Formats: sequence, structure tokens, C-alpha cells
Amino acid sequence: MPVTQWTPDLALNHAEMDKTHQEFVDLLNRVADAGGTALVRELDALIAHTEAHFAQEQQWMEAAAFPPLHCHVREHEGVLEITREVRKRVAEGETHLGGVLAKAVAEWFTHHAASMDLILAMFLNQPGQFQAATACQTGCETAKSAWHGAA
Ligand SMILES: [Fe+2]
Ligand SMILES: [Fe+2]
Repeated sequence: MPVTQWTPDLALNHAEMDKTHQEFVDLLNRVADAGGTALVRELDALIAHTEAHFAQEQQWMEAAAFPPLHCHVREHEGVLEITREVRKRVAEGETHLGGVLAKAVAEWFTHHAASMDLILAMFLNQPGQFQAATACQTGCETAKSAWHGAA
């Protein structure tokens, strides 16, 4: 059963980011639906895609001197750390964790896309016209409460 779905609400008016996010949503659903050895394979695919997804955003942030880079990157690192840990435990037999992870990351992503990624997309689309200091604070607080709410 899908844990999330792509909707126009998730679009951030940044073609490359939006394409990556659609793929990410698809991969989360594949993890949620997989079992047995296929689950480990799907988790590997999710991890590889997520590493590239987050590295690309970090590169954009560095190139644009995006002020709230560090809080955004910290959140990415936390998600990757949890995903790698779940992959390890699934491979050791705790296969129920695949679905738990997919659901939690899907909930996290809804908030992350609507806060940190939205702010980044706006900044990339309109550099110099955006109050990044305020955005950092708002983005971090929104993301923190979303993550704690999902945990
Ligand atoms: Fe993203
Ligand atoms: Fe992000």
C-alpha cells in the first residue's frame, strides 16, 4: 500500500528538484510495498537516490551561499543515518522496519519539502529577494516539530 503520493502541492517551481522529489516519493512507496530480499534491494536504491538528492541540494546551497545551509544539511544527514540503520537491521531480519521507515520518511518529507526545500527553491529562483535569515529559523522550527511529531 502506498505511504505517500505525488501531488501538485509538492511542486516547488524548480524542475530538477521536483523531478527528484517525484522519484523519491516513488522509491518510498517501493520500499513500503517490498518484502524479503527485494526490500533490501529497494532500500539500497532509496539510499543511493537519497545520497544523490541531498548532495545535489547541498551543492546548490554552497554555490548560492545559501545562509541556512547547515540546518538543512543536518536534517538530510539525520534522515540518511536512520535509513542506513534500518537497511542494516532489515538485512539482519527486522523486515517490518521497512514499512515503518517508509511511512516516517514520507511524513518527514511532506514537511521538509514545504519548508526547507521550498525556501531553497525560492532562494535559487529569486536570489537576493529573499529574507534567508528568517527562512532559516522558520524552516528549522517547522522541520524539528514535524520530525518529533512523526517519531
Ligand atoms: Fe529535497
Ligand atoms: Fe532538502
